[in-house]
Amino acid sequence: MSDDKELDHEYDGIRESDNDLPNWWLNIFYVSIVFSIGYMIYYHWGGNGPGQMDNYNKVMAQVAENSTQTPQSYSFTEDELAEAQKSETQVSEGKKIYDIRCIACHGAGGAGGIGPNLVDSYWLHGGKPTQIANIISEGVLDKGMVAWKALLSKKEIIAVTTYVRSIYGTNPANPKAPQGNKE
Ligand code: HEC
Repeated sequence: MSDDKELDHEYDGIRESDNDLPNWWLNIFYVSIVFSIGYMIYYHWGGNGPGQMDNYNKVMAQVAENSTQTPQSYSFTEDELAEAQKSETQVSEGKKIYDIRCIACHGAGGAGGIGPNLVDSYWLHGGKPTQIANIISEGVLDKGMVAWKALLSKKEIIAVTTYVRSIYGTNPANPKAPQGNKE
C-alpha cells in the first residue's frame, strides 16, 4: 500500500510497517466491547439471562418429561391434571393411547373386560384424578394391570388419564359390572 508507514529497519530485505488498524477491524472491536457490557449485565450481573445451571436444569426437566425410561415413579398434581383435562388435544391424544394400549383389557370406550370398567363411579383404587394417574403409572402387578410408567412418558399418562376421565358416565356397549367402592 502506498500509505504504508515504514519503520526504518530492515533485515535481509524484510521490513516492518507501522500502520493504523483498518476501520472495519476497529469497528468490530468497539462493537464487541459494547456487546460484552450488555452481555455481562444480562448474564452475570444480576440480569435475567439463564446461566449454565439454568439451561442444564431446563434440559434435564425436558428429558424427564419426555423420557419413556422407567423412572422411580412419576408424581402427578391435581393442578396439572386439572389443567390437562381442559385440553381437547390431550383427551384425543389419550384416546389414541387408550385404543392401542388399554382397550384389550378395559374394552372399547372403557366398558371393561379383563380389567374393570372405567366409566362408572366405582373404583378399586380411587377415582380422584391423581389416584387414576397413579394407578395407570404404577399398575397393580399381581392383578394384571401393567405399570405403564415403564412404557409411557409422564405426558402420555396424563393424556390417557384425561381420556379415562372424559368417558366417565358414558354407556359403552357390554359394560362390565361395577367393581370396588362407589365414589
Ligand atoms: C393386561 C390387561 C390390562 C391392560 C392392558 C390395562 N389394564 Fe388397567 N387394569 C387391569 C386390571 C386387571 C385392573 C384391576 C386391578 C385390580 O384388580 O386391582 C386394572 C385397573 C385399572 C385402573 C383402576 C380402576 C379402578 O377401579 O380403580 C385404571 C384407571 C386402569 N386400569 C387404566 C388403564 C389404562 C389407562 C390402561 C392403558 C394405558 C390400562 N389400564 C391397561 C388390566 C389392564
